Amino acid sequence: MSESVTPYKSDSSKKEQVKTMFNNIAGRYDFLNRVLSMRVDVYWRNRAIKRLKKYQPKTILDVACGTGDFTIAALKTGATKIIGVDISVQMLEAGIKKINDKKLADKITLIEGDSENLQFEKNTFDACTVAFGVRNFENLQKGLDEIYRVLNTGAPIVVLEFSKPKSFPFKQLYNFYFSTILPAIGRLVSGDSRAYTYLFESVSAFPEGDAFIHFLKQAGFKNCTCTRLSLGICSLYIAEK
Ligand SMILES: C[S@@+](CC[C@H](N)C(=O)[O-])C[C@H]1O[C@@H](n2cnc3c(N)ncnc32)[C@H](O)[C@@H]1O
Repeated sequence: MSESVTPYKSDSSKKEQVKTMFNNIAGRYDFLNRVLSMRVDVYWRNRAIKRLKKYQPKTILDVACGTGDFTIAALKTGATKIIGVDISVQMLEAGIKKINDKKLADKITLIEGDSENLQFEKNTFDACTVAFGVRNFENLQKGLDEIYRVLNTGAPIVVLEFSKPKSFPFKQLYNFYFSTILPAIGRLVSGDSRAYTYLFESVSAFPEGDAFIHFLKQAGFKNCTCTRLSLGICSLYIAEK
């Protein structure tokens, strides 16, 4: 289960540890994302946004928005109001700076908020997105239940999350990169010795594919689909309330 894998293996809750970790790496997060994924993350975000656009959402909630890359990409759907929430203040600050620099503050607002206790009324949003966030939730089911609550009836949840490639020899090559090279670069650049090892460990433990769809269905979502991208490194899940 995703709850059992924590960044620092300390006594504090997974949520506290995740918050500390992202606060630690916030300054280098965007740079490392681009370098370590060789910009493939930009392609994944665009694939997700293309699917979301079909729903023509006017209001979007981006949960675990971090530094706002997916929040900003969601503007391509034509939405007029997008709110991003995250538990890491430092990630939010980096995102707010980006949004102000791009003069997008009239459409995008980033605020502190916890996926497991969202501060919005039920039936508030036309869509909800989570990019590389669900794996970090302390209580995955509670997070999905909350997202379901704040969505309008028929509205989609769009989730991007890492998954594990299955085919030989890509699986073996990728595992070597992901468990050895990537944590070493991550450690060097971010200054946090655990963050990118936690990335590998948390992806290994995450309930991907049908197992994740089970959580979506438990929350009440219908028409759940999973599309594996880039030989299964990443999965795009879409479901409707
Ligand atoms: C890997 S980052 C992804 C950020 C952004 N969505 C992106 O695509 O770059 C994961 C984010 O999830 C946030 N997070 C983890 N648990 C959360 C929770 N319970 N509620 C809100 N945000 C959370 C972390 O603080 C972090 O910013």
